[in-house]
Amino acid sequence: MTERFGSIQVGLGGRSYQIVFGQELIGEVGTQLKQIDFPQRLALVSNETVFAHYGQQVLDSLSGAGYEYSVILVPDGEEYKNLKTLETIYDQLITEHFDRGAGLIALGGGVVGDMAGYAAATFLRGIPFVQVPTTVLAQVDSSVGGKTAVNHRLGKNLIGAFYQPELVLIDIATLKTLAPREVRAGIAEIVKYGVIRDRTFFDWLEENVDQLLNLDAEALLHAVKRSCQIKADIVEIDEREGSVRALLNYGHTFGHAIESLCGYGDWRHGEAVACGMVVAARIARKFDLSDDESTRRIEELLCRFQLPTEVPVFTLERYVDAMCRDKKVRQGRLSLVLNQGIGNADLFPLDDIEETFREVLPELEVKIDG
Ligand code: NAD
Ligand code: GLY
Repeated sequence: MTERFGSIQVGLGGRSYQIVFGQELIGEVGTQLKQIDFPQRLALVSNETVFAHYGQQVLDSLSGAGYEYSVILVPDGEEYKNLKTLETIYDQLITEHFDRGAGLIALGGGVVGDMAGYAAATFLRGIPFVQVPTTVLAQVDSSVGGKTAVNHRLGKNLIGAFYQPELVLIDIATLKTLAPREVRAGIAEIVKYGVIRDRTFFDWLEENVDQLLNLDAEALLHAVKRSCQIKADIVEIDEREGSVRALLNYGHTFGHAIESLCGYGDWRHGEAVACGMVVAARIARKFDLSDDESTRRIEELLCRFQLPTEVPVFTLERYVDAMCRDKKVRQGRLSLVLNQGIGNADLFPLDDIEETFREVLPELEVKIDG
């Protein structure tokens, strides 16, 4: 039985949309699309894994609402989030004569959502799309805010566009089939919101570790909704990351470097971000922006969520090189998002990148020298 738990508006003028929350909402995709007058002809983009779980329910719902659809399946995995896979999406859209009157639905995690979103942004210079995120990470982060992208071999998400969906449908019941490791990885982004924006939420997370790891519906809904609200508030102020949206990259500069150095796939995005947050918290402490207690609490909470906090071993030079290829570098200068205690954060330019990281990651030097 479908249960609805309200919605959040992302207010962006003509590009505004709703994030709708519920249980078993997946069987209502068709009726939800009707309500926003979504194009009659559409392509459902997913991967084999997610489609096997939820594809038929979505297709039945689309048929029931009178939609004409095609299915486009992409391979499962971050290593396929690239231009080559993107081309296969365009190929099918073109071969099947999709035109500007068509729409696209992304059913899956952040990989499918980012890639399908970029396809929608660029196919025929843009067709409408809807996000149906099915991982914790996608529900609390990637499906909201309109960042779409694919990876380049030299760095994460280097090719992309800001392109907002018309609707985000969040069915928390889909998380029941998600691997525990993926649940934990998504929780890293939830912790991020607490650290950068909401101390009370961080306190609540400390009290609800077991509930979240056990997918308790009430706790999950609170965490997902609060995360989406924080993200929506930020995106409304700064859609294209000219200012405050950059705070959402807390832990990401170092995290992206881990992903890039380890080869996309070994580390889950959220795991790399967890490790990046520990590094950022240590740097914040070093610059006296934060205190020992906050630094300890951040690291401890990530540990309790069984997220990795130990940095994988590469030379500092390679880390610095990877970080400098990230999108956050402006005019050759790297800025990092650093927490001010818990519940606040800001962007700080680094004068000496290598020196800063050497000081907070002495274990790296020891391992390299040894
Ligand atoms: P993912 O999309 O690879 O999904 C993780 C795994 O779970 C995959 O194997 C997938 O097939 C499977 N899966 C998905 N839903 C499932 C379900 N309900 N049941 C069973 N299996 C399921 O990974 P992710 O963590 O969701 O997303 C990571 C991506 O998101 C990265 O590429 C990252 O760059 C991107 N991202 C984007 C933004 C943004 O703002 N656009 C923000 C954060 C992360
Ligand atoms: N995940 C960072 C952002 O959406 O801005």
